Amino acid sequence: MTQHTDRHDSAHAAVPVGPDARLAEHGLRLQVIEPIARPESGGDPDWRDHPALSHHVRAAEKGFYEKVPTGAVLDQVLGCHADDGRRSLGVYEDGDNPADTEPVGTFVDFSSTMTASPGRQVPVWQVTNVTVSPGHRRRGVLRAMMTRSLADAAASGHPVAALTATEATIYGRFGFGVAARRSWIRVDTRGRVDLAGPAPSGRVRRQDPRELGETYRELQESVRRQTPGSTYRTAECLVRWQDRERSENEGKGTGLLAAVHRDERGQVRGAALYRFEGWQTEPTTITVEGLVAQTSDAWRGLVEYLMNLDLIERVQHQRHPDDGLLAATLADPRRVQTVQHRDDLYVRVLDVAAAFEGRDYAPRVNDALVLHVRDGLGHAAGMWRLSVDGGRGRVDRLDAAQADVSLDVRELGALWLGGTSARTLARAGLLDDASEQTTDRLDAMLAPARPVHLLTGF
Ligand SMILES: CC(C)(COP(=O)(O)OP(=O)(O)OC[C@H]1O[C@@H](n2cnc3c(N)ncnc32)[C@H](O)[C@@H]1OP(=O)(O)O)[C@@H](O)C(=O)NCCC(=O)NCCS
Repeated sequence: MTQHTDRHDSAHAAVPVGPDARLAEHGLRLQVIEPIARPESGGDPDWRDHPALSHHVRAAEKGFYEKVPTGAVLDQVLGCHADDGRRSLGVYEDGDNPADTEPVGTFVDFSSTMTASPGRQVPVWQVTNVTVSPGHRRRGVLRAMMTRSLADAAASGHPVAALTATEATIYGRFGFGVAARRSWIRVDTRGRVDLAGPAPSGRVRRQDPRELGETYRELQESVRRQTPGSTYRTAECLVRWQDRERSENEGKGTGLLAAVHRDERGQVRGAALYRFEGWQTEPTTITVEGLVAQTSDAWRGLVEYLMNLDLIERVQHQRHPDDGLLAATLADPRRVQTVQHRDDLYVRVLDVAAAFEGRDYAPRVNDALVLHVRDGLGHAAGMWRLSVDGGRGRVDRLDAAQADVSLDVRELGALWLGGTSARTLARAGLLDDASEQTTDRLDAMLAPARPVHLLTGF
């Protein structure tokens, strides 16, 4: 154990003015585009009424090499922005008017909720659409937008921020740690695919996702409230689930299909959304776009249905939980092949007390540890005692103390939900001063009640 004080951390406590100054040196400035509202009619906003946001959306799509939305498609995107309350940060060349010009840097943030433990939600600040134009990279554009966003998130009472990343090396420096992983799996479905357990009760039927109404949304919400790491669905998700995307297909839909499980009393207990990849794809493949089940019978019923679709030789799912459940469900687990196993949800702790008091703990654990947290942006820096008793956590800020473990805020975010183990981080050399006994105690305290998983991206 090492004696630590807060002095080192408080030197960093003020939000730095540096990032904006660095932008100015490059003739750039940061500007905020506040969230927009839907028109009173409830229809989509007209993109021509929101020129700065429309330019921002286009710039972000280009940053990801996506098709640039125009006309009614852009209106629908703006409607989703309005429903989520998305705010846009843009970095512009000095003298440029955001209403006439695309920004050189895009960044979107908005407030939502995340399941911290089954049945418990905390506010989360979600970050997305981060791009910097190729000609303006490595001039501090990202750093300026992120610093501003995290300061606003903390000031508005968000205990954590969250994002998903295209590259795993970008966000650690801003204090984001890997809190949940996902698997991209492929299942060989040639021949009859049997389940390992008994035949599921209830029945599964195909249904048009456009006729599902609120069913999928309600199921998804009930499952995500029990799934640590999952956030409230975005407006864009809702459009996709109901196959309402305005596309070049003139409103005929994108070919999405749904399967619904009803229990023996006819109650809907689970549903899957899936898409056929086309006859030109070999082997013939369906992609699962969403799969939610409230019961084991619903899960097994949907798996049996999806794995035994006529003419289909492969089923794939890119956002599959990293928990081994599918392999355990099948009589032949080797049918499941993991194509990619990757970091998914990144969490950044902004308020240590609110984050760790906002989740539940194993009811039988009664323990306390002192954590010394380093945070270059200051938000979570300090000495914190985490005490766990009767399933609840309590966090006290200490002025000076013997720390049981010293760690960067990035590792704190990775540990928060229990989706990354302290033992793993310690063996990777990322927890200072922690004995094996301490890491075991930390793991016992933080173990999640259910596997940590992000059900939908944002
Ligand atoms: C990733 C991206 C947003 C970075 O923007 P940027 O303005 O060049 O970043 P900054 O100049 O603010 O750099 C901030 C820090 O991150 C580092 N960094 C930036 N991009 C990085 C990357 N891809 N990998 C590793 N480090 C990176 C910089 O070296 C710098 O480090 P330092 O502060 O320790 O010196 C930009 O390269 C981009 O738009 N990429 C394509 C779209 C994309 O991947 N977006 C991310 C979506 S999740």
